[in-house]
Amino acid sequence: MVAKKNADKEAPREQWSSKMSLVMASAGSAIGLGNIWMFPWRMGTYGGSAFLLIYVLIIAFIGLIALMGEFAMGRGQGKGPISAFEAIFREKKLAGGKWLGLFPVLMTLAVTIFYMVVVGWIIHYFVISFQGFAGLNLATYFSGFAGSSSAISWHVLAVVATTAIVYMGVKKGLEPINNLMLPGLLILMVVLAIRAVTLPGAVEGIRFMFAPNFGALADPLTWFNALAQALFSLSLLGCTLVIYGSYMPKGTDIPQAAAYTAIFDTIAALLAAFIVFPAAFAFGVSPNAGIPLLFVTLPGLFAQMPAGLLFGALFFLLVIFAATTSAISLFESAVEPLMDAFKWARKKAALITGAVVLLAGLPLTINMGHFSLWMRVTSGILMPIGTLVTMIVLFWVFGALRARKEVNEGAAVKMGPWWEFFGKYVAVGGTFFILVAGILRFTGQWR
Ligand code: PFF
Repeated sequence: MVAKKNADKEAPREQWSSKMSLVMASAGSAIGLGNIWMFPWRMGTYGGSAFLLIYVLIIAFIGLIALMGEFAMGRGQGKGPISAFEAIFREKKLAGGKWLGLFPVLMTLAVTIFYMVVVGWIIHYFVISFQGFAGLNLATYFSGFAGSSSAISWHVLAVVATTAIVYMGVKKGLEPINNLMLPGLLILMVVLAIRAVTLPGAVEGIRFMFAPNFGALADPLTWFNALAQALFSLSLLGCTLVIYGSYMPKGTDIPQAAAYTAIFDTIAALLAAFIVFPAAFAFGVSPNAGIPLLFVTLPGLFAQMPAGLLFGALFFLLVIFAATTSAISLFESAVEPLMDAFKWARKKAALITGAVVLLAGLPLTINMGHFSLWMRVTSGILMPIGTLVTMIVLFWVFGALRARKEVNEGAAVKMGPWWEFFGKYVAVGGTFFILVAGILRFTGQWR
């Protein structure tokens, strides 16, 4: 009765104003640090164009199916994972749906916590890029900054800015920021890729990056990396895209929106590779992955490049745009569940989310050991759990046939029965493989 009374007071659910806004938001969520700090290195290390080939196949036959499925779950139930799971379970006379829905929510929160620490570093590097990176010993500089108290204010700034956007809501916060930053980031990527490929010696980098090494496909590590990259890059953690799907008007063409999202994300990953590889080869350094690439290697290249001051600043602006549009989707993945579970107003949910992310991120901000451990546990174990739970609920409990019917509603191109096979077996199987491999790698049993 009390719950009903509260529910009656609930504001009507917000919706995207157009299909375009949804695509911008999903592509904004997808294109992020994953594209820039992991894709180029993974492609270069695990087989070049051979890796690209299987990556594209995985995007098409696992990523896209899961993307459509998450959208459909959100749109069909009109809710994020907690209430969606609850409704699906209740219908089957099963208990515990809403508790299971907490899994993808909490796993995504774990990502948000480390992601925001990195966003803080990026804002700091954007600011110092105006003085240029020349004259700095970048490795020493980074190790003195990250994991120290000087990183705190930047972390706070990143969290406050993201909270402010999510606080404004779907139409006034998420939409305008995505609509501004997504095109901005694509333009910056093209500008920087042109700069990189026109550096003397850049061609070698392109040649290296695309050199097909089909032998790499015999190594299970290649498949692990391609799958893990696809799931992270498309934001398929079982929460965010269900929520974005729940803001879709009924008639939205899900397969088309999913296809656009995947295409934009893959183009952005390739553009990132076109920035990183040619530039690295032009200066004779090897492109690496993750944190050192962003904060040591690339700034080092900008320090030597003609007009490096300008391109360094543009690069960090690009990373800010990419990371912000992903960060707001990560925040929204906590805000919606709080509004849903406690019937809180958006503003309250946004402030609480900001406070939690801020406080939980502090130990990681001031201690790199904590940061690395958190990142390893999250990416190795927690993330695939969230993805797997949602995929099982969707394809097995709710049912792949019903999911396909929901996907096909309003779709110009309808998905056939093959879609169910890929959802139930290939997507679920692939994610299960990632989870087992992630655990083995975390515990050091597989290197
Ligand atoms: N897809 C983002 C990236 O590539 O950086 C990261 C991400 C955002 C993952 C949102 C998951 C998510 F829910």
